[in-house]
Amino acid sequence: MSKEDNLNKNWKKDFPILKQEATQVSRRDFAKFLTLVSGGLMVGSGLVAAKAYLLPKEEVAGEHFVCKLDEVPVGGTRGFVIEGSTVPYILIHLENGEYKAYEQKCTHLSCSVFYKPGTGIIHCPCHEGSFDAMTGDVIAGPPPRALPKLEVFFKDNDIYVKASEEKVLS
Ligand code: FES
Repeated sequence: MSKEDNLNKNWKKDFPILKQEATQVSRRDFAKFLTLVSGGLMVGSGLVAAKAYLLPKEEVAGEHFVCKLDEVPVGGTRGFVIEGSTVPYILIHLENGEYKAYEQKCTHLSCSVFYKPGTGIIHCPCHEGSFDAMTGDVIAGPPPRALPKLEVFFKDNDIYVKASEEKVLS
């Protein structure tokens, strides 16, 4: 017996799995795998949704500086967070000259939304959700409610935000 044959024999003794068994996946194993993966995804999505619905939202208090007027060109955006908060916001300089500020988290499952320049639409790439950039209202897709917004105002050449009056009244 050659040295090579001897090595092959020892290898097979250490790993006594037939090639056919190693490459074939039974329907039962495949079904178990699918069940496990889809169950994990379902639990993950449920936790994200539960967190979004059950935890109290942080309220924005006071006025907050965002940036200088000339730092956001027409059709441009700027992401920001308010000091002491972790909520991401997006400031949009719309093509009609208005500035709008919204939470950057989709109201469906909290994916990050972005403005599509020239369209007036804020888009969520996760499940094709769309929001009206003028109002934050849902235009299409699964998001259940409008994007929370902040009021934008100006002091000289500075852009500031504060809690939206609409939100306070509602
Ligand atoms: S997370 Fe935005 S549409 Fe689903």
